[in-house]
Amino acid sequence: MSSPPSVVLNTGREMPVLGLGTYKLCGPEAVFQAVDAALAAGYRAFDSAAVYRNEADLGRALRELLPKYGLTREDVFITSKLSPKDQGEKAMKGALHSLSQLDLGYIDLYLIHWPGTQGLPVADQRNPGNRAQSWLRLEELHGQGKLRAIGVSNYTAAHMRELMQSCRVPPALLQVEFHPRLCQLELRSLCKEHGVCFQAYSSLGKGELLADPLINEVANSCKRTPAQILLRWAVQQGVPVLPKSSNPDRIQKNTEIFDFSLRDADMDRLSALDCGHRFCWDPSEVA
Ligand code: A2P
Repeated sequence: MSSPPSVVLNTGREMPVLGLGTYKLCGPEAVFQAVDAALAAGYRAFDSAAVYRNEADLGRALRELLPKYGLTREDVFITSKLSPKDQGEKAMKGALHSLSQLDLGYIDLYLIHWPGTQGLPVADQRNPGNRAQSWLRLEELHGQGKLRAIGVSNYTAAHMRELMQSCRVPPALLQVEFHPRLCQLELRSLCKEHGVCFQAYSSLGKGELLADPLINEVANSCKRTPAQILLRWAVQQGVPVLPKSSNPDRIQKNTEIFDFSLRDADMDRLSALDCGHRFCWDPSEVA
């Protein structure tokens, strides 16, 4: 991948369309090896979270590896997320902790990870107030330049509408599970309407979609891997992706998605797999 394509967020800043997901990437050596392979392959974006417990390892790996590739802090785009345990009155402390763990000066994009609050039942009526309080703290840190963009993850359309009505700084991005079995049509059109970037996680369905017969059929006809088909299906619709891999070869292969196109008929056949299936957590019951 020569120069990774990017999208422009509503902050005016660019974000690469392809980033390395780091969920379950743990331990200094594993993180270092994955970041090294990713930078070599052309990745310039990395997606972490407080709950992944790898912010410190990611920050350390980047500080050490950027010079090896002739890069500086400004050349990479770092996302992290507020832990659901810090939702509400602990949000400032949680975000500052992410900033100090990463130790990269600022965070490019910081998301509220989950609309609920750890320790509260999903239906608890304190959840809306808690996430509103978190958003205020993120707005404050955005104003100070410590969080260059702020957004949310795992919000439903109802959570998004609530935020759009109350926010001073609109969210730059919504990150949700997105793949052919979960096309998220309502959320995508809501994001489009409000100028919010819609970003996919779990494009590979935690690896489980790689065995899907249709995806394999399309992969064989294009002489590509099933993972490349799933990632291409998303980016061809303008949706940024964050495939996670700890394997240098797969990290490289997952970048090879910008030199081919899927035929319209194949895009449609893949999108017709939509059945609302989730491989990850479901936020629809969170009050
Ligand atoms: P690994 O880290 O061993 O490569 P998702 O991003 O949907 O959560 O999927 C991540 C999962 O898919 C991980 O288990 C990862 O395993 C696996 N994976 C990532 N890229 C590929 C690929 N190109 N081929 C096969 N499996 C992959």
